[in-house]
Amino acid sequence: MILEIGFVLFAYLCGSLSAAIVTCKLMGLPDPRSEGSKNPGATNVLRIGGKKAALITLAGDSIKGVIPVVLAHVFGVEGYWLAATALAAFLGHLYPIFFGFEGGKGVATGFGVIYALEWRLGLLLTAIWLVMAVLFRYSSLAALTAFSAAPVLAAFYWPQYTVPLVLLSVLLIYRHQSNIRNLMQGKENKLGQKKSEPK
Ligand code: G3P
Repeated sequence: MILEIGFVLFAYLCGSLSAAIVTCKLMGLPDPRSEGSKNPGATNVLRIGGKKAALITLAGDSIKGVIPVVLAHVFGVEGYWLAATALAAFLGHLYPIFFGFEGGKGVATGFGVIYALEWRLGLLLTAIWLVMAVLFRYSSLAALTAFSAAPVLAAFYWPQYTVPLVLLSVLLIYRHQSNIRNLMQGKENKLGQKKSEPK
């Protein structure tokens, strides 16, 4: 039990490391919490600082979800405790202790923890994200679609992860309220489009 609780805490602390904020600071870019969508995530960093900064952010926010889950698995943590470790990393990204509990929307870290739990599900969700992003050019819509599908796919093929993925998906959708509102009003920015750019 001590080991499992230790990995859950470690995962939360990993998740609390915001790659977007750190990358922008190191690259002399504006704080993503005050520019564009004000979301400290790869999509907003793409708007603020371009592809290189966005890719570094995407990698960092994904890897911070992979590392604790894989390490926990290596040390023999399984089942609901492994899922709890994944959720802890995800919650750390949303509510980071190092940044005033004001974090991102969880897409990259969500992918990271899902790949670490079940890489085949991660691939399926990535494919959904890519198809939606190519078809509609909205990062948020792609993410909402992929993560809405996550618990459904899990229920059919990896039922042990259904409940944790329902929780993760509900939280991700909750964090995308402003995006959902903008999508419904036709105000959501396309991938890579700056907030001020005309549609
Ligand atoms: O990665 C989050 C994405 O789904 C939406 O980002 O900056 O457009 O709110 P953003």
